[in-house]
Parts: sequence; structure tokens; C-alpha cells
Amino acid sequence: EWTDFERATIQEIFSKIDSGVVGPAALSRCLIVYPWTQRYFGSFGNLYNAAAITSNPKVAAHGKVVIGGLEKAVKNMDDIKTTYKDLSVLHSDKLRVDPDNFNLLADCLTIVVASQMGQAFTPDVQAAFQKFLAVVVASLRKQYH
Ligand code: HEM
Repeated sequence: EWTDFERATIQEIFSKIDSGVVGPAALSRCLIVYPWTQRYFGSFGNLYNAAAITSNPKVAAHGKVVIGGLEKAVKNMDDIKTTYKDLSVLHSDKLRVDPDNFNLLADCLTIVVASQMGQAFTPDVQAAFQKFLAVVVASLRKQYH
């Protein structure tokens, strides 16, 4: 279901991005732009405003963890659903994250990666990246009932 171009593009994006920059930037953006997503991070301390969110070390650390999760999907592109089985159960049964929020974080990731890549983020690259994120989101949703 992946073309050679899509595979190469996804692998290249993840080999180039700095997870310690992109992860925190995407998660902070999600918490700022869609403030209701903050409700799941009650243990993260001060999320009072944009400055507090972007300088919160727990947000930064967790942003990096999210990219680590995505890298697992990159390594298992042909079976993301199985790869994400436990992660999906965690987000649904334990964390009770409304699955609509997955798309919001995915959109923030797209914006951050686009701004990092500049001209290299062509429409074809965007299409491949968003297709990958759509499969990730569908796989995270899988265990919801
Ligand atoms: C935990 C990935 C979206 C809320 C995690 C973990 C990973 C992860 C890898 C750590 C799991 C572990 O410790 O075993 C992802 C990915 C997402 C995503 C790849 C989508 C692209 C979201 C969204 C929310 C959310 C949208 C809420 C709005 C949480 C929370 C935790 C967590 C609250 C536990 C954090 C903690 O207490 O340390 N996620 N996640 N996730 N995720 Fe997600």
C-alpha cells in the first residue's frame, strides 16, 4: 500500500528531524492551539499559557516520546496496526483520550515538519507525510470501542 516514493520520503523525514525539537514543538503547539487537550496532562504541572507550555520540561520530554512512538511506526510501515496495538489500548482504556485529538496532534506535527523543511516540503512530500499520519491515527483508534 506504500509507493517507493512514500517509503523513501517517510524514512528520510524521520532520519532528518531532531526528535528533541520537532516533538516538543508539535506537542506544545497542540496544547496551545487546542487547549482542551491539556486535560490529559494534569500531571505535567504548569500549562497556564503559551510561555509556560513551551518551557515545560515534561511537555518537552513527552514530545520526544511521541516521536519515538512514530519512529516505531516508520520501522514497521507494513503493519502499523499491530505495532500500535498496546499504544492504542493505553490511549483508549487507560488514558481515555478522545481519539479526535489524534488528528489535532497530527496536524501540529505536519505544520512543524513543514516549517522545518521549508522548500523541501513539496506537495508530494506533504501527501506522503499526511498519508503516514492518517495510518498512525487510524491504528491508534483501532482498539477504541
Ligand atoms: C503516552 C504516542 C497522541 C495523550 C504516550 C506514549 C506514546 C504516545 C509513545 C508513551 C506510552 C508509554 O509510556 O508506554 C502518541 C502518538 C500520538 C499520541 C504517536 C499521535 C500522533 C496523543 C494525544 C493525546 C495523548 C492526542 C492527548 C491529547 C497521552 C498521555 C500519555 C501518552 C496523557 C501519558 C503521558 C504520561 O503521563 O507520561 N503517547 N500519542 N497522546 N499520551 Fe500519546
